Amino acid sequence: MVDNEIHRGLVGVIVDSTAISKINNETNSLLYRGYPAPELCAKKSFEEVAYLLWHGELPNDKQLKKFKAEEHKHRALSWGLRSCIYSFPEDCHPMGALRTAISFMGLEDDIGWSHKKDEIYKKSLRLYAKIPTIVAAITRLRQGLEPIEPRLDLDFSENFFYMVFGEVPEKEIVKAFDVSMILYAEHTLNASTFTARQIASTMSDIYSAVSGAIGALKGPLHGGANEEVMHMIDEIKNPEKAREWMLNKIAAKEKIMGFGHRVYKKGDSRVPTMTQAYHDVARIKGETKMVELSSILADTMIAEKGIYPNLDFPAGPAYHLMGFETPIFTPLFVMSRITGWTAHIMEQWDDNKLIRPSSAYHGPEERHVK
Ligand code: COA
Repeated sequence: MVDNEIHRGLVGVIVDSTAISKINNETNSLLYRGYPAPELCAKKSFEEVAYLLWHGELPNDKQLKKFKAEEHKHRALSWGLRSCIYSFPEDCHPMGALRTAISFMGLEDDIGWSHKKDEIYKKSLRLYAKIPTIVAAITRLRQGLEPIEPRLDLDFSENFFYMVFGEVPEKEIVKAFDVSMILYAEHTLNASTFTARQIASTMSDIYSAVSGAIGALKGPLHGGANEEVMHMIDEIKNPEKAREWMLNKIAAKEKIMGFGHRVYKKGDSRVPTMTQAYHDVARIKGETKMVELSSILADTMIAEKGIYPNLDFPAGPAYHLMGFETPIFTPLFVMSRITGWTAHIMEQWDDNKLIRPSSAYHGPEERHVK
């Protein structure tokens, strides 16, 4: 059956059902397997949320211990993958580097083609365990520093800070980072998750689906917005200039990064929790100017256009204050979203249907070569 109506950008089109997450635009809520995301941020760790997304239930103590032990076991990188990362051009974008590293992981996996659920789960866990090590190595090599080996006595977020900076910061900063990981983990059929499912639907392999998803996430209309938000803050610098800057951009009808959302039209449900985490980090770092600047931008945009900030708006400056360099912000998003992508790939393969939409044609009428 072909519906002749054109839905550009697939706006409002429901292409399948999922049991992984639900956005309720009316109540501004986001549920992961039925649990409100802010509640998970307050009471659970990113590891527990990763387990929840894959298994459908939160782990008990024994399950969590086993899950963490599995993740720890896979943190280290192979010699081949390390050499691959060392060979990247110094000034390449970290998202391109990460996409290439994941492709390389696919080459190293001799049963990369398997679609069996237990195999896919193991591959997902390996990706989740290794991506932070890859991102940390890329970050350090960009700065002319040697990568640091993972530590197996540290939790996911602590270990990541250790691999990037050689030390673990205050626990409030680690918690704010963990909160960002939970909030970035899953968000229904966003562009990169759809890309992952679309590639999976051809019965290609998990590494191809994840590499494609990384490519989609890189774009500034999607995950790349967290970097763009930081460029915007760097450009404005002074809170006193923020309102005028925003009014000028609105008058010029320019898109402002970190604002707007395809699904949420009355505000992104993740923003209050992430804004709180951003403010917590700012308080610890003694930063007030940036917080003031962000608030003025948000208030001006809401008042003038009725367009609300999305998750990238508080996440970008929070990452900056945690000490991460801007080009690494979107790879941080990947460290988290790998859980949602792979949960969706598994769901797709549970009951696969090739994703292949149709298009209306507006080219020349049939003609013939003379
Ligand atoms: N700045 C300025 N205007 C914006 C805007 C923004 N960030 N986001 C939406 N709008 C305006 C559009 O210009 C458009 O106005 P018009 O109807 O007068 O032309 C209207 O709101 C609808 O926007 P549109 O881009 O068609 O909505 P969409 O659902 O296709 O796009 C986004 C959603 C996320 C791509 C869009 O809001 C955007 O580009 N935001 C900036 C990038 C970003 O932060 N991405 C991260 C998303 S989590």
